[in-house]
Amino acid sequence: SQAATFRQATTTDAYRGNEDCTNVNWDELGFGLMPTDYMYIMKCSSDEKFSPGKLNRYGNIELSPSSGVLNYGQGLFEGLKAYRKEDGRLLLFRPEENARRMQMGAERMCMPSPSTYQFLHAVKQTVLANRRWVPPPGKGSLYVRPLLIGTGPVLGLAPAPDYTFLIYASPVGNYFKERLPLNLFVDDDYHRAFPGGTGGVKTISNYAPVLKAQTQAKKKGFSDVIFLDSVNKRFLEEASSCNIFIIKDNVISTPSTQGTILAGITRKSIIEIALKYDYQVEERPVPVEELLNADEVFCTGTAVVVAPVGSVTYHGKRVEYRSGVQTVSHRLYSALTSIQMGLVEDAMGWTVEI
Ligand code: COI
Repeated sequence: SQAATFRQATTTDAYRGNEDCTNVNWDELGFGLMPTDYMYIMKCSSDEKFSPGKLNRYGNIELSPSSGVLNYGQGLFEGLKAYRKEDGRLLLFRPEENARRMQMGAERMCMPSPSTYQFLHAVKQTVLANRRWVPPPGKGSLYVRPLLIGTGPVLGLAPAPDYTFLIYASPVGNYFKERLPLNLFVDDDYHRAFPGGTGGVKTISNYAPVLKAQTQAKKKGFSDVIFLDSVNKRFLEEASSCNIFIIKDNVISTPSTQGTILAGITRKSIIEIALKYDYQVEERPVPVEELLNADEVFCTGTAVVVAPVGSVTYHGKRVEYRSGVQTVSHRLYSALTSIQMGLVEDAMGWTVEI
């Protein structure tokens, strides 16, 4: 295959590169793909064991037209970020959480998964090989995108006979192009997930079904969509690409993850920081009426980080929320990003230096 012809990169190659030779205008970074130098590939055949992976030059991959991922959507993805500290060292944020989440998702999707060690090793190799693409401190991060896909051929519906674990990376800045705070549309026509489905795992097939609602909302001038549960059409689930929190009288609430909602790593980290700051935090079903009555609303995710919500619109009614630097969500955002960027001592033990 094309990938196999590329020379395997080494960590020394990455260090040899001039860290400043990317010609990127770091002040203009958004959340779009900027191809980097290397991707990591590790394959797994029917014995469910991954053979040692390697770095390849970043580029297209070959896939069987009848691969499991193309035909039946057998695939998972992850997302995590590497930040550059002032001293030049690179920090990953809770990467073992991504490894564990991929393992749980793989179990649901009948796929073998890399061990936590294999996952972390692969992430570190990918970041080091692309280290010249990690933005300078304060300018963004290197977004790392692991994929686990059924690459073997299938025709009848069945798990694919073999799998590929691949990681690529791209420098990123802010997820939302428009200025924050977000203006969200609460959609109860389309649903993202249903009980017994795969809403709680990071399967690739959870995301394309969101596009219709998101596109319609954007056409109407909204930043994004909040989905409600598919049974009662009443309880908050997620926004398209992130979890949601509301705050009323300093009590922080977020929908509990009971199978239809992704257990976001930023979500979990924000809950842990809020508890450490002595806020009351409730994970429970949150009805849309409480959203309309909240003081503050914000979204969390690896890509979006902590994004304040300025308004929501539901059944034609628009409600506005507190925003700005005096808010609880801003306090939580600062606490989280200071740890992620290595600006404060990491008392939580969340960062991994590479
Ligand atoms: C992330 O936040 O990392 C995600 O995977 C969401 C994606 C739709 C950008």
